[in-house]
Amino acid sequence: MFKLQPQGQYRIQVCEGLSCYLVGGAEPIIDYIKRRLNIINGDTSPDGKFTLEIVQCLAACDLAPAVIVNDELYGNISTDKIGDFLSELLAKA
Ligand code: FES
Repeated sequence: MFKLQPQGQYRIQVCEGLSCYLVGGAEPIIDYIKRRLNIINGDTSPDGKFTLEIVQCLAACDLAPAVIVNDELYGNISTDKIGDFLSELLAKA
């Protein structure tokens, strides 16, 4: 639970648990975020805005695929939705 490295302003946790995996959502979303932000699991973007964490089950299986950004849960996420969401966050100062 403790982090030894500075975390991004937005901590993105992407679930790759079974339910999220089975609906086909986890891997495309993870790949999209990695490409878009040019980071890997556990990394923080150079601008300090985003940290990516791949996690197992966010206890929101009925909303699979699920993502948590900071403390906010987002369900039924897609690459389009996460793309729009990242654009919104990037636009914030
Ligand atoms: S497996 Fe993803 S929320 Fe449960």
